[in-house]
Amino acid sequence: MNKAEAHIRIEELNRILHYHNHLYYQKDTSEISDLEFDTLLNELIALEKAYPDLIQPDSATQRVGGTVTKEFASVTHKYPMLSLSNTYSESEIAEFDERVVKSIGQRTDYVCEMKFDGVAISITYKNGILAQAVTRGDGVRGDDVTNNIKTIKSIPLKIQGKDVPEEFEVRGEVYLPYEMFERINKEREDVGEALLANPRNAASGTVKMQDSSIVAKRGLDCFIYSFLKDGETPETHSAALQQLKNWGFQVSDSYKICKSVEEIWSYINHWGEARFKLPLATDGVVIKVNNLLLQSELGMTAKSPRWAIAYKFKAEEAFTPILSVEYQVGRTGAVTPVANLAPVHLAGTTVKRATLHNANEIERLDLHEGDTVFVEKGGEIIPKITRVDLSKRKAGSKRIEFIHACPVCSTPLIRIEGEAAWYCPNDIGCAPQITGKIEHFIQRKAMNIDGIGTETIELLYQKKLISNVADLYTLTYDQLIQLDRFGEKSVNNVLAGIEESKKTPFKNVLFAIGIRYVGATVAEKLAMHFKNINNLKTASQQALLEAPEIGIKIAESVVTWFSNPKHTELIDKLAAAGVKLELSENEIITIDSDLFLGKSFVISGVFEKYDRDELKEIIIKNGGKINSGITGKLDYLVAGENMGPAKLEKAQKLGIKIISEAEFEKLLNG
Ligand code: IVH
Repeated sequence: MNKAEAHIRIEELNRILHYHNHLYYQKDTSEISDLEFDTLLNELIALEKAYPDLIQPDSATQRVGGTVTKEFASVTHKYPMLSLSNTYSESEIAEFDERVVKSIGQRTDYVCEMKFDGVAISITYKNGILAQAVTRGDGVRGDDVTNNIKTIKSIPLKIQGKDVPEEFEVRGEVYLPYEMFERINKEREDVGEALLANPRNAASGTVKMQDSSIVAKRGLDCFIYSFLKDGETPETHSAALQQLKNWGFQVSDSYKICKSVEEIWSYINHWGEARFKLPLATDGVVIKVNNLLLQSELGMTAKSPRWAIAYKFKAEEAFTPILSVEYQVGRTGAVTPVANLAPVHLAGTTVKRATLHNANEIERLDLHEGDTVFVEKGGEIIPKITRVDLSKRKAGSKRIEFIHACPVCSTPLIRIEGEAAWYCPNDIGCAPQITGKIEHFIQRKAMNIDGIGTETIELLYQKKLISNVADLYTLTYDQLIQLDRFGEKSVNNVLAGIEESKKTPFKNVLFAIGIRYVGATVAEKLAMHFKNINNLKTASQQALLEAPEIGIKIAESVVTWFSNPKHTELIDKLAAAGVKLELSENEIITIDSDLFLGKSFVISGVFEKYDRDELKEIIIKNGGKINSGITGKLDYLVAGENMGPAKLEKAQKLGIKIISEAEFEKLLNG
């Protein structure tokens, strides 16, 4: 396909993909299967890769991300992003209504909306196309996070509809649904990373991530709640919301027109309970004057509009006595204290347990046996203990001291410098660590072994049939058939699942063996870079740091893991069992041209069109070589934005050809 043909096909693919995206995300229906959709999308990705200058700003590929931004550009808001004044009481809502009525000299309607708990975003559309998305920042200037926002599927890249103004802004709240939040924290727990405190923090951290392809995987979503434009606008806020909905924006159906303080109050009371059934965190209700002319008549104070107010729900709190504190040992050996509570009703559920996080937290609370504690469930899903009701403390009750020995295997606990957690170091003898590691190994994202669950693993361990992940591969029919509840069919199922797992790609195996900080994404990067376990095992910390996106924390963790002879023994056993410990041929990049044969490249800085991995892949695919450092023998330094001045200076001194992204493209296109 030549460039002109590619151009036509790219436009056609975008039309088709936008149409199906619109059906799927805005109309909740679909006309093609996921596979058909992905096939079209992949065709578009391939064409854009071949002809990067044909990428359109509203391309459907923007949804999968790929750009890396080191520093977000600061942008001045066309209309400042104000905040709302808060209230916690019915009487203050009545006062707000009185102020409004007095100021405009008439009664008026309000729109009540849920106050979504995420991060505010302002998005500008020009000629129907998403042009720029900016965070609130200080209200006057914010960060340009367009590439990250484009990955949110419910935000249209291109408006489908009638009477779309040439230029307008929408504002809304970017949020992380509870389900996604829990998934991310599960993944973080899996690799021993600190957990994110609540969905709001997780959303704001995600919006500011440098790599938009990671943002795309996180599952952010957005509710739009305002429409701004110069000149003529709809008469009311509710009409504007309807208009936005018609244009394909996601507007929450929870809004309601209220004609009196009583109606507002009943809206608040209804959602005060009903909000716990929503899939996202909310922290209040926003009350807005519906008529937009009246809104501008009311104007604003220095900080917030006079036409709106936020009623904030009180953080749901309950108090209840602690029955006991127990200690859980995780896969990594980290010991987490958990409080068992007298059951208490809180935020739509009955709470019986609350995490105490670590020893510091027990100390901070100065917890004593039998204390009555306040439990809170704010944006958090796992309830937490906020404070102790000292008036209820029984005289002479004993302080709760964090344990010094493992509750399971009695090994003295250790603390790793700089970490809050205490660990049981007995990783090969402590039951929950062993079964936890095996559970991690078999999960879907790892070796995906069907037919085995938590209970089976515990049973196999108790019967001394397995004590590490490699032992799974030595299990026999005769051993399994003797177990309770195991019939011929289930035994064959388990054995088939184990056999099948030998085909699992190397990157999954690397994730499955459970090196701390090596999550699924990092495992993939390491697999692609080092190609087999031997290269990885023998890699120095420096060599690891040179791999794409590997930082010091991961590099150290990998080196430490392989320096343990028990781990290398385990790898040997997995190898003997036939588990894949190298990339298969189709995973290794194939060379399609010798354009760069004999030429070496160093890539440094941040690029507009490609991320660094893509550039590396293009170079390798065309026969070139990637060097790690700048030496006299280097042919090209591909220099992006923000590259280190020392590197640049060294290359200049050595007379190396320094080329920009555009010059690299020219080179590529001959
Ligand atoms: S309207 C003049 N509507 O609350 C401000 N804000 O404290 C207009 N928020 O920064 C904002 N849900 O991030 C509005 N339905 C909603 C909202 C909402 C959440 C957030 C928003 C804003 C903050 C104001």
